[in-house]
Amino acid sequence: MYDLVVLGAGVMGTAVVSAILANASEKPSSIVLVTKSEASAARLAKQFPMATATNKHDEKRKAIAKAHIVILACKPYQVHEFDLDLSLFNGVVISLCAGVTLSQLPGSAKAKIMTNTPAKFGCGMATVAFSGVSESDRARTMDIAGSVGEAVEIPEKNMDAATALVGSGPAFCLLMMEALYDGGVRMGLPHDAARLAAAKVMEGTAKMVLETKEHPAVLKSQVCTPGGTTIGGLLKLEDAGVRGAIARAVEEAANISASFAK
Ligand SMILES: NC(=O)c1ccc[n+]([C@@H]2O[C@H](COP(=O)([O-])OP(=O)(O)OC[C@H]3O[C@@H](n4cnc5c(N)ncnc54)[C@H](OP(=O)(O)O)[C@@H]3O)[C@@H](O)[C@H]2O)c1
Ligand SMILES: *[C@@H]1O[C@H](CO)[C@@H](O)[C@H](O)[C@H]1NC(C)=O
Ligand SMILES: *[C@@H]1O[C@H](CO)[C@@H](O)[C@H](O)[C@H]1NC(C)=O
Repeated sequence: MYDLVVLGAGVMGTAVVSAILANASEKPSSIVLVTKSEASAARLAKQFPMATATNKHDEKRKAIAKAHIVILACKPYQVHEFDLDLSLFNGVVISLCAGVTLSQLPGSAKAKIMTNTPAKFGCGMATVAFSGVSESDRARTMDIAGSVGEAVEIPEKNMDAATALVGSGPAFCLLMMEALYDGGVRMGLPHDAARLAAAKVMEGTAKMVLETKEHPAVLKSQVCTPGGTTIGGLLKLEDAGVRGAIARAVEEAANISASFAK
């Protein structure tokens, strides 16, 4: 059991709190959600009756003094607005903020979690990097990260790549999904059917990779009947350089993430 404070309880902060409450193996003994506005605090108090929500500086200070875990979940540019006095804090600071490095975080025990919006639906991915965190606090942090879906530990130097693949990845998948949908509609499928089919095809394909643990290329080859429809479509994608374009999109997003930290 640990006391938890969430500094900046917006989209990501509340997604992680919901995930902890639903799926973490260890639950917090207390939760304090800190927002900027009174209106957000009032809304969160209704949404999370087991937590305390506040925008008051005094209450924030008191909560941090007794907390064991502080999750920083505001927008990266808001970090400096917080007037973060964590000098007396001797727990773990966990940052969800893109582009904020471990060395830029206050305190001595620190972790960075990169996750994504599917976390809101229990299907998130999380990558975690640590600095100065004890074995038991690492396990607790991995439990928190894993509650959004799946979590892996990576070295901090790989965080920009993870930001690109994990954080931006859903948008890249949505573009592909939109294209599948458009293709279906082009060939006469009703909109509802095309939307459902495009989403289900991506979900199902992801499930095949997760369950078989095969390389995607192996599964792809199994779908191709010689002389059939699938290999024909795949060659069109290769002609257009889709594979390279998607891989380079991850590279570009990682480059941009790296430029934010400077
Ligand atoms: N959204 C995503 O898809 C996504 C994906 C991966 C990572 N992230 C990371 O997650 C972090 C949070 O993003 P988000 O989309 O969840 O942001 P958000 O919804 O805008 O939430 C920001 C929260 O911080 C609070 N806040 C801002 N300034 C404050 C201050 N000075 N004092 C106290 N509270 C303050 C806001 O309170 P009010 O409600 O009162 O304004 C709000 O609760 C970002 O750093 C981002 O890099 C986001
Ligand atoms: C908890 O995990 C289940 C199963 O993985 C998932 O369906 C559910 O959405 C998760 N709940 C939250 C709030 O993340
Ligand atoms: C990313 O940055 C590297 C190093 O600066 C550069 O060589 C590469 O071309 C960049 N990638 C993209 C997609 O712009």
